[in-house]
Amino acid sequence: MPSKPSAPKAPKAPSVKKSKVPETLRGFRDVLPDEQAAWEKMEDVMRSLSRAYGFGRIRLPALEQTSLFERGVGKETDIVEKEMFTFTDQGGVRMTLRPEGTASIARAYIEHGMLNQPQPVKLWYSETFFRHERPQAGRYRQFSQFGLEALGSEDPVLDAQVILMCQRFCKDMGLDVTVQVNSLGVPSSRKAYVAELVKYFKLHKKQLSETDQKRLIRNPLRLLDSKEPGMEELKAGAPQMIDYLDDESKSHFMKVLEYLDEAEVPYVLNPFLVRGLDYYTKTVFEVALTNPGTEEGASMVLGGGGRYDGLIPLFGGRENTAAVGAAMGLERVLIAAKAAGTLPDPRRRSEVFFCQLGEAARRKGLKAFERFREAGIDVAEAFSKGNLKAQLEIADKLKAPIAIILGQKEVLDGTIIIRDMESGAQEIVDVEKVVGIVEKRLLEIRARKAVAKEKVEVQPSV
Ligand code: HAM
Repeated sequence: MPSKPSAPKAPKAPSVKKSKVPETLRGFRDVLPDEQAAWEKMEDVMRSLSRAYGFGRIRLPALEQTSLFERGVGKETDIVEKEMFTFTDQGGVRMTLRPEGTASIARAYIEHGMLNQPQPVKLWYSETFFRHERPQAGRYRQFSQFGLEALGSEDPVLDAQVILMCQRFCKDMGLDVTVQVNSLGVPSSRKAYVAELVKYFKLHKKQLSETDQKRLIRNPLRLLDSKEPGMEELKAGAPQMIDYLDDESKSHFMKVLEYLDEAEVPYVLNPFLVRGLDYYTKTVFEVALTNPGTEEGASMVLGGGGRYDGLIPLFGGRENTAAVGAAMGLERVLIAAKAAGTLPDPRRRSEVFFCQLGEAARRKGLKAFERFREAGIDVAEAFSKGNLKAQLEIADKLKAPIAIILGQKEVLDGTIIIRDMESGAQEIVDVEKVVGIVEKRLLEIRARKAVAKEKVEVQPSV
């Protein structure tokens, strides 16, 4: 049998090559809506603390001249040596995405003549910073800091105040922290100490790793926070800064500790704390969880800071312009608060939910919804949904005690329905008066809730 001719093949649709959307860069991340409640809580705490202690907000530029950080943070620090995002712009200017805030603060203090204002000038910031580090848990290439800087005074009470504010910030985020403190003294006493330190480590040079041998030559103080194997034992026998402090630095440090004792801020002395930035003089400190729970938590420093009396003079500002400050790592505070279960519920809650049914109601609803919003009522909506049941379910999820319902009939009558979500009771009211009536109902509901809460609290325990 002759075979049937096969049906002609349909022409293949030309294949469209799908290119993958570029992903976020390593060490960079999106902060999604679910995380906003936590960030907002943190921002509220920052604002209220700063206001209480008289710190004014400053917003800093993201880009600065590279030399600002080279001179301020120090050419031989890890930040400047390895971690800065630096480039030359179209005009040939070398610029850097800010890796930290203190150098910019010192620049701004000089540039805006803040030394003519009553001293100390107290500033706070909440900004993102950029460091090209190896990304891992709690270490990003873009991260955020809550920074506090008090400039123009060497009073030790300011060191204590900044430390206390860092501790309170964590406490208000539900975290129990301990502060590690040390004093690095003034440059002359530190020089004498470093000479002793070098002498000591030179005696043990063979036991030092290659990295630490480099540190011994370039930045011997950093040997004190080396985590290389065997260093713990070596450090234990090393000379300690505290024994080399000049009298002024010693009495300054004692006063800081006395203020911390008085304010009941938990701290421990850590003679090996040096911090990784060159501008520090006298007090240095770091903030970490008191009971970290995990090894990861134990190694995570939530914040740190110290005094930097030499930075403003270094930048050409008036001699003897002392300053002290700190910065808390906000992503790290959030990681710790999440582990401690102290973050707020990310779900949105609203007091009123606005439902509409049918095209006419949707159109009128847009205006009616605005009236609630303008009156300052926390009102939510789902205009893209047409079905009443679905909208009431959302109202339920948001735990809204009141739903407003606008249907075809109500649009024609110039009315609107107020539904008590708990009892299901409904009342029909004049659309022009609805906002006032809802405000009244909300007051009644809040009062009812307050009474119920009080009753629960005074229940005797059995
Ligand atoms: P810092 O110790 O370099 O100090 O940073 C402060 C905090 O920022 C750290 O304790 C950490 O929580 C957070 N942080 C630093 N790098 C990263 C990163 N790659 N990823 C996530 N979090 C990070 C300073 O920046 C000084 N400017 C603090 C200061 C202010 N000193 C005096 N005034």
